[in-house]
Amino acid sequence: MTADGIDGLERFDSPGKGRGLRVNRAYRVGELLFVCPAYSHVLSVSERGYTCEHCFARKEGLSKCGKCKKAFYCNVECQRGDWAMHKLECSAMCSFGESWCPSETVRLAARVITRMKVQKEKSASEKLLLLNDLEANLDKLDNEKREMNEADIAELHHFYSKHLDFPDHQALLTLFAQVHCNGFTVEDEELSHIGSAVFPDVALMNHSCCPNVIVTYRGTSAEVRAVKDISPGDEIYTSYIDLLYPTEDRMERLRDSYYFTCDCKECKTKSKDKVKLKLRKVNELLELCELSMEKMGSIFEDSNVYMLHMMYQAMGVCMYMEDYDGAVSYGEKVIKPFRQLYPAYSLNVASMYLKLGRLYMALDRSAAGSTALKKALAIMEVVHGKDHVYVKELQKEISTHQK
Ligand SMILES: C[S@@+](CC[C@H](N)C(=O)[O-])C[C@H]1O[C@@H](n2cnc3c(N)ncnc32)[C@H](O)[C@@H]1O
Ligand SMILES: [Zn+2]
Ligand SMILES: [Zn+2]
Ligand SMILES: [Zn+2]
Repeated sequence: MTADGIDGLERFDSPGKGRGLRVNRAYRVGELLFVCPAYSHVLSVSERGYTCEHCFARKEGLSKCGKCKKAFYCNVECQRGDWAMHKLECSAMCSFGESWCPSETVRLAARVITRMKVQKEKSASEKLLLLNDLEANLDKLDNEKREMNEADIAELHHFYSKHLDFPDHQALLTLFAQVHCNGFTVEDEELSHIGSAVFPDVALMNHSCCPNVIVTYRGTSAEVRAVKDISPGDEIYTSYIDLLYPTEDRMERLRDSYYFTCDCKECKTKSKDKVKLKLRKVNELLELCELSMEKMGSIFEDSNVYMLHMMYQAMGVCMYMEDYDGAVSYGEKVIKPFRQLYPAYSLNVASMYLKLGRLYMALDRSAAGSTALKKALAIMEVVHGKDHVYVKELQKEISTHQK
């Protein structure tokens, strides 16, 4: 690591895209470009009890904060390490009781403000971009977005008044705008939401629907790995959104949340849109609202993304109802088009193989299970890295089933 910056990488002005990140040497598929510790992070309320608030380790036997009984930690070190952040919420959760419900964005912003107070030097998360300098796109906010930011600020004042020195209103508006277009959601290997975080250096990467890197998480750090071979001088692009959907949907999402129009190859050629939108009998479309899942199947090709979306949701419902056979049947329908529609190395494809494999195993279909788990493993070794705990755990899982 150089004193300033990150080896192999360089910040530059990317025409039409603001600042961006490019490489000054070649990278191969699976190679790690850089690691960025979170500047601030927050665990989702739904993960409490399963994951350590401080280091995001997921394990059994975590110990809880004696005061609020809501935050859980690996050990005393993690609890101590987290106190500066947890104290923002610990007593407030006790006094608000059931009515304590700030959004995750507000919770994250409170932590960012707290860290900014003490972090006077450049942090290890800001080798290429300072938190203060994150793009806010303030000039692009419409009234609806402005109102949303005001609502966030009101919520922040409501839930964090005791322990927070609030910056002025304009600074808060900027901060929320920055968090909205640069914040990350942290997900596990099955793409379940764990928390939210800010990684300034990672936020320097622009978006493409044909990304050449993927961001994964190890504890509270973000890791960026190549999913295509990258040549010296190339800009690196990650994807900000789910790439399953057709161009028009992606465009809308990117404009709404990030205020730009994507000009990547896929947005220009729309090469996958046709498959993504395939219908069997278009004239029946109007009756759609009243249709059962089965009937919809006769209208939409299985590769139609809205059909896929529904089947994916249905799979989740089956899991919730513990109908594992049902979940498998949806998973099996989804996996093939997923492979076709997502890029070669995709977290969505890996997590689907993983879920499917684990379902097969639960249903004692170990041959199918092991095949699916191995497919998940092959992708995860590239996107997460061979030494990632998710990869190690999965290898163990596969070998236990082989015994
Ligand atoms: C997370 S930041 C990326 C870094 C940003 N370019 C900067 O200078 O800080 C997201 C913002 O970058 C810009 N951006 C990202 N990808 C882009 C793209 N493909 N084309 C144009 N602008 C893009 C948009 O303004 C977006 O809101
Ligand atoms: Zn911990
Ligand atoms: Zn507590
Ligand atoms: Zn695009």
